Amino acid sequence: MTWNLSRMHESKYILGVETTCDETSLALVKDGTDVIEEITLSQAKKHAKYGGVVPELAAREHIKNLSKLGPTFFSLIEKYIPKISAVAVAAKIGLPPAVQVGEAYAVGLSKALGVPLIEINHVIAHIWGVWVDSAFYPKPEFPVVGVILSGGHSVIAKFDSPRDYKILGQTLDDAAGESFDKVAALMELGYPGGPIIEEYAKYGDEYAYEFPVPMKDSDNYDLSFSGLKTAVRYFYEDNIRKVPEYMHKYFKQDIAAAFQRSLFMSIAYKVKKAVQDTGIKNIVLGGGVAANQRLLDILYNQLKDLNVVIYAPHLRYCGDNASLIAGYAYNFLPSATKKR
Ligand code: KG4
Ligand code: ZN
Repeated sequence: MTWNLSRMHESKYILGVETTCDETSLALVKDGTDVIEEITLSQAKKHAKYGGVVPELAAREHIKNLSKLGPTFFSLIEKYIPKISAVAVAAKIGLPPAVQVGEAYAVGLSKALGVPLIEINHVIAHIWGVWVDSAFYPKPEFPVVGVILSGGHSVIAKFDSPRDYKILGQTLDDAAGESFDKVAALMELGYPGGPIIEEYAKYGDEYAYEFPVPMKDSDNYDLSFSGLKTAVRYFYEDNIRKVPEYMHKYFKQDIAAAFQRSLFMSIAYKVKKAVQDTGIKNIVLGGGVAANQRLLDILYNQLKDLNVVIYAPHLRYCGDNASLIAGYAYNFLPSATKKR
């Protein structure tokens, strides 16, 4: 089915709120695909010393950030305020205390503006990265195989339309991004681990060490990364003391490269199976891990014989932001919603 953006005529403006993890974000999106304004504040530095996001700290920071962001954001979008059709909030899935801050804020906004509140599953909304970006062209046509890889979730799903999806498989334990964060923490490289591991891996040898490729032979779409992480941990802990100090950096670069390859090969096997089983040729990536260039290379190499097209969002639409939420919510507008 082709999803036709021009089916709906009257422009709809949706205000988005995102606080599920460590990004505080507000956005205004027109017709699902046109970001009018977005402000996002990252708390990553505040959590770095803990090696991961601390839920209560995240919630406190969201409260502080929203009171800072709000006035600036609303002055930027002032002329659109009367046109807002709905408020969308990332209401699940995330860190409960953090999600609650955004929900309370969004409930207040929807009441004050007198418009409906649309609750969005933020994990699934990651699929919308290539649609919400007005510069991304051409847009994929449905059906698509969605591959959403974030810090908390890893999902392979078949989307017949933006809102009609079926989850084919997901991680049974750690999420892809979480594994990057844990391996980076193990090697004392910092947080968030994904971009750091990607950078280290650029200088390493993917074949220096052979880590297991998880779930390679299982006949389903499930993913599992905790065994790989544990294999890396044992290998690292057994060997780091044997490596002379001046070689530590190179040792870590090789581990980063070999770990990254195993993890992405595992994903590539499952995506390939999804393409073969469903016959769908359009693959859409989303989530923080989709920012990784090596993921794209490996997927392309492993699937090129199947004539697939891989759509990866621009970096700014990989991670968490309210544009994704407001954009994706366009597909859930109550049909009776009118411009105020
Ligand atoms: O989607 P996201 O921004 O937030 C969640 O919903 O979790 O994903 C964050 C995750 C983190 O685990 C981070 O380490 C990972 O995405 N990540 C990456 C890269 N950039 C961010 N993983 C691998 N390579 C990257 N370049
Ligand atoms: Zn996310």
